[in-house]
Amino acid sequence: MTLRFDGRVAIVTGAGGGLGRQHALALAARGAAVVVNDLGGAVDGSGGAPAAAAAVVEEIRSAGGKAIASGASVTDFAAVQAMVAAALAEWGRVDILVNNAGILRDKSFAKMELADFRLVLDVHLMGAVHCTKAVWEAMRAQNYGRIVMTTSSSGLYGNFGQANYGAAKMALVGLMQTLSIEGAKHDIRVNCLAPTAATRMTEKLMPEAVLRLLEPGAVTPGLLALVAEDAPTRAILCAGAGSFERAYVTLTQGIHLGHDDDTPEQVALHCDAIGDRIGETVPESGAAQGTLEIDKAMRAHR
Ligand code: NAI
Repeated sequence: MTLRFDGRVAIVTGAGGGLGRQHALALAARGAAVVVNDLGGAVDGSGGAPAAAAAVVEEIRSAGGKAIASGASVTDFAAVQAMVAAALAEWGRVDILVNNAGILRDKSFAKMELADFRLVLDVHLMGAVHCTKAVWEAMRAQNYGRIVMTTSSSGLYGNFGQANYGAAKMALVGLMQTLSIEGAKHDIRVNCLAPTAATRMTEKLMPEAVLRLLEPGAVTPGLLALVAEDAPTRAILCAGAGSFERAYVTLTQGIHLGHDDDTPEQVALHCDAIGDRIGETVPESGAAQGTLEIDKAMRAHR
């Protein structure tokens, strides 16, 4: 089995460097026509230069692939719509969207300005919302779509100094959960990728020997599997240094304690039993929690 993307059209945001560039090069090398999007700014989101996306387009074309550049900021919905319109005008469809563009504004929460919190949410969360919204109708109409949200271990598990970034990255997991449900009827599969890679975003955070192991290209095989025809949906795939893991949002079986005057004390007393992971599930939708709770309550009152 070879994963090929011939005839497929992909948009990769933030593809002027780092992980996005690797994703774009790999998709193009395996047959996809690629919109290489990048604002071309600094890690903190300041500035902008269309040269970053243009250089990757040049690389793809000189290797015999198909690509066009977009300098749109994912924060600008009108510019994102124009980018999608350009892809549709050029190739007639959009099959794959890789929401990868991102910035950092790290500071401890105590020192973080609200403006830095909002900007990070705007780029990561609203950027992905804009791009997804702009391709959603075309994907529904063609009954095919593969969308990846780039999440992060900082969102899934937390990281000092990244309250803004972590919140934005976990919000993308929430976005994926519902879009995968809403897209299923039209074969739109939505997944999350949590990468670990040596890029300009992380180069100051890790020692040289570790950075060498974490070449961004080692994440891209995971991305390709998430946007392939046989892709899963609602997966959170973790990838780094050629290793792959899965993360899950789970629900424990819990216990029924009723609703009496002493229930707060009972909840505090039974923390361990409530959190017991035996019988834990990965719910298929949010309704599972209510169903489980009602079921336990009915059994308790029988
Ligand atoms: P990077 O800084 O090399 O790539 C991000 C790209 O997004 C840059 O080329 C930048 O110009 C572009 N960009 C920023 N704001 C934009 C906007 N408004 N519109 C369009 N493009 C914009 O960093 P890296 O590491 O390649 O990051 C890629 C994605 O992976 C990001 O979403 C990041 O949060 C995520 N990530 C990276 C990890 C790592 O270990 N490198 C860990 C977890 C997540």
